[in-house]
Amino acid sequence: MTPAKNTTSPKLTESEWTHDAAGLAALAPKDFTFGVATAAFQIEGAIREGGREPSTWDTFMGQPERISDGSDASIATDHYHRYPEDVRLMKELGVDAYRFSIGWPRVQPGGVGKANREGLAFYDRLIDELLAAGIRPMATLFHWDTPEPLQHAGGWLNRDTAYRFADFALIAAEAFGDRVAQWVTINEPTTVTLNGYALGIHAPGATLMFDSLITVHHQLLGHGLAVQALRSEDVVGQIGIANVHSPVIPYGKGFKTGAYAELFDLIHNRIYADPVLLGRYPKFPRSMRTIFRPLIEVDDADLAIIAQPLDFYGLNYYMPTRIASGAPTDNTMPDGVWAAGASQLPFHIAPWPELPTTSFGWPVAPDYLRVALADYATRYAGKLPPVYITEGGASFVDTVQADGSIDDESRTAYLAEHLAVAFAGAPGVDVRGYFIWTLLDNWEWAAGFSQRFGLVHVDADTQDRTPKRSYRWLQQLLGARG
Ligand code: FCB
Repeated sequence: MTPAKNTTSPKLTESEWTHDAAGLAALAPKDFTFGVATAAFQIEGAIREGGREPSTWDTFMGQPERISDGSDASIATDHYHRYPEDVRLMKELGVDAYRFSIGWPRVQPGGVGKANREGLAFYDRLIDELLAAGIRPMATLFHWDTPEPLQHAGGWLNRDTAYRFADFALIAAEAFGDRVAQWVTINEPTTVTLNGYALGIHAPGATLMFDSLITVHHQLLGHGLAVQALRSEDVVGQIGIANVHSPVIPYGKGFKTGAYAELFDLIHNRIYADPVLLGRYPKFPRSMRTIFRPLIEVDDADLAIIAQPLDFYGLNYYMPTRIASGAPTDNTMPDGVWAAGASQLPFHIAPWPELPTTSFGWPVAPDYLRVALADYATRYAGKLPPVYITEGGASFVDTVQADGSIDDESRTAYLAEHLAVAFAGAPGVDVRGYFIWTLLDNWEWAAGFSQRFGLVHVDADTQDRTPKRSYRWLQQLLGARG
C-alpha cells in the first residue's frame, strides 16, 4: 500500500513506516500482544437491563448541551446483546487479547453492597466466549462509570469512594479472578480529574479547576486498594493500571511558557505516574505549591498503598501537547468540545499546523509515542514494569462506498506508524503489546457518535457491523505472523 502522504511522519525510517502488512508483521517482536480495547459505557447500551443502575455518565448525558451531537449511550453499539458477534469479529481479526471494562453500576448497582447476579452473569458469558475464541481477557475495573449514588456523596472528591472501589474490585476478583489474564484497575485518572472535575467536559461536569486535584489522590488510593483486593483473592492474572501520557512541549520561548509547560506536564502526566511508580508525588516548584497543596499534604501511608508493585504498566498514547502562554481565546478545547472555565487559565493548548490531524483535531504524531516511552525510561528507570500500550487509535470521517466498503486509509496509516514505533520501543522500556482503540465505532463520551475510532463500522440505526479496510489490513498483518 502506498503510504498516505498526509499521515507519514518524516522522522521515521522507511522500514518503520512501511504500511505493508506482512512487512510490518516481520518487525513485530516475538510474543508481542496485539489487542483491541473498548469501555463498557461506550459500547454496551442496555443501561436499564439486567439490574444495572445509573452511573454519573447516565446523568451527565441527559443534561442539556453536554453531548455535542445530542445523542446518548442508552443503546450505544448494543454490545450487551451482540457480544457473541463482536467476539467473532475479534476472532476473525486474529487478535491475541481484548481489553474491555466491567461496568461498576452493572455489577454492583449503587456502588455499595452485594453484587448483582445478572451483571456478573453478563461478564461471565463474555469472558467465557473470549476464552473459547482463544482471546485473552484484559479487564478494566474503572472506565469512568461511577455509580450515581457514590457521586451524590461527592464521587472522587470523597475519600470513601476509594474504599467503595476496592470492594467492587474484590467482587470482580472473586467472580472472574480464575479467568482474567490481565487486570487494569483505573483507566486514565488524568481524564477523570481534568475533564470530569476541573473543566466540566465529562461527567460529573464539575468545574473546580485546580480545586479538583484531590480527586487524583483518591483515584490513586482506589487503585492501590484495588491492587491489594485483587492480590488478596490470588487472581491468576497480571495487575496494572492505564495512565495516559502526553509529551509536553513549550511553544515559544521564555520563562513563563516553560513554567506553564511544566505545570501542564505535572497536572496531565506526573501526578498520576510518579506516585504509582515512585511512591511519591513530584517535587513541585515553589511557585506552584499552593495549587498542589492537597497532594503535598497526603499521608505517607497512602503513598505506600498507591505504590503497590505492578506486573505491568499500561500507557495510553494519543498525542503530544504544545503549551503556549496566554488564555485560550474561547472555551472550546482543541477537540472542539466546550470546556467551561478553560478561559480562566493563563496558558492554552496550541495547535500543530505542520502535522496532520484526526477528525477530533488531534495531531498525528507517532514520533511522540517514542518520546512518551523515552520520558518513561528517564523518569522511572529501574522502577518500570513491562509496558503495554493499552490504548492508541484515531477518529476519522469514514465514507461508506456504494458497495458498502469503507476505505479508511488514514486510520490504517495511523496504526501502521504507531505500531512500528511500538515494535521498535525505546531503550529502557520493555514494550509488550499494543491495544488499538477501538474495535467498533462507538459512543465517544461528550462527542457522542460524532467521532469514529473503530476498525469496524457500526450503523447506528441498524447496528450492522462492517469491517473497514483497517480491519482487513490488521487481519493480514496478524495472519502474516510466524
Ligand atoms: C481515551 C479513553 C477512551 C476513548 C479514547 C478515544 O482517553 O480512555 O475511552 O475515549 O480516549
